[in-house]
Amino acid sequence: MTAQLHDLRTTPPEPVPVAELLRRRRPGTSLESAFYTDDEVHALDLDVVFSRQWIFVAAAAEIPEAGDYLTVEVGASSVVVVRDDEEQVRAFHNVCRHRGSRLLEDRGFVGNIVCPYHRWTYDLEGSLLHAEAQPPSFDKTCFSLRPVHVRDLAGLVFICLADEAPEDFDAVAELVEPHLRPYRLDQAKVAAQTDLVEAGNWKLVMENNRECYHCDGHPELTTAYFPLFAYDEEDISPRLRPLFERYQRAAAALEGVRRAHGVPMVDHRHLDDRVVGFQLTHMPLDGEGKSFGAHGAAVSAKLMGDVQDPAFGDLSLHLQPNSWFHLLGDHAVVFSVMPTSTTTSVLRTTWLVHPDAEEGVDYDLQTLCAVWNATNDQDRALVAATQRGVADPSYEPGPYSMVEDDVEAFVSWYVARLREHAGPGALPDALPDPRAAG
Ligand code: FES
Ligand SMILES: [Fe+2]
Repeated sequence: MTAQLHDLRTTPPEPVPVAELLRRRRPGTSLESAFYTDDEVHALDLDVVFSRQWIFVAAAAEIPEAGDYLTVEVGASSVVVVRDDEEQVRAFHNVCRHRGSRLLEDRGFVGNIVCPYHRWTYDLEGSLLHAEAQPPSFDKTCFSLRPVHVRDLAGLVFICLADEAPEDFDAVAELVEPHLRPYRLDQAKVAAQTDLVEAGNWKLVMENNRECYHCDGHPELTTAYFPLFAYDEEDISPRLRPLFERYQRAAAALEGVRRAHGVPMVDHRHLDDRVVGFQLTHMPLDGEGKSFGAHGAAVSAKLMGDVQDPAFGDLSLHLQPNSWFHLLGDHAVVFSVMPTSTTTSVLRTTWLVHPDAEEGVDYDLQTLCAVWNATNDQDRALVAATQRGVADPSYEPGPYSMVEDDVEAFVSWYVARLREHAGPGALPDALPDPRAAG
């Protein structure tokens, strides 16, 4: 008996077909192990999510001048994101139309895009300008770089690799853009950027971002940030009651500040009822109420864009599948998650400040980045521990708490995309969420 139990707990389970995993996904609980450990699921994630949905890839401020470019790796695909001579952001597959060489690496500046192999030369709109030793019949117009869908949403750059990108991006942009506009992210300056290697599947990084159930593990962040994200009043325990009352007072103060500036606190929540799932929330801050410095202190002396008041709260934007953003009166911090293998991913964090803010004068770089460097590192450890745990043969999906609705929304958005991909009628209806009963 003991030996059997031992075997049960150490023998890897037989692989389960993805359709079966989707069929039996139980809303209100975490996903089964295979979603985080199985190479077939990962290949599907790259195809169905990262190659067909809109994904956030960069702040437009990373490529401020015509000719500035960066490259983005999405599975086997590489994409060049470049600012053209008309100052528009464009995206192309990073593949030469001659014999396929990669064109550009990493990031930098180019006048034209010149292939390193035989020097086919493209302009910044992707047109082939020059290809040596071609016959008279050669038609350059047939060999432009293959475009990738791209949108610059008030300074945030999204791409979609699909032939036909999900249409509702524009409708979402219309809702979101007015909230972002006062911060003028398009004109901001990149103060810092980090790439953190996560020892976890990309979904674990996202799920961790979508709840504050674990926020006791973020002592630096929570001197400024109320760890009440996704809490309703009935979720407030006696322990959290004094904090909640402070939060309510801070929220009322923020509402007054925003009303005085003609920008009301209107929130939007469409995390899993749109293909471009998103949530936009106005959050007050604790302490001084200004920014992510210790106890809500400001971290940059120059306010963003048209913002007039340093206590402008935290405009928090979450987008499925791979991004979140915090816009403060004095800076913004933007996050993207990209998968690099079944069990690894990269979290990119970019800090943006007013274009005239000078390091050492208006802001101290270490202070600006301190909270999120610490928080990201704490989250990195949580994600790595969870990856190890969900790979353990004894792991079983566990129930979400009342304050993990946004984790459920992320997972249900994800499962819906995979089910859509399977095709109508290919799978029985999703199981109901038992938490909704009664
Ligand atoms: S592969 Fe690019 S010029 Fe030949
Ligand atoms: Fe966290």
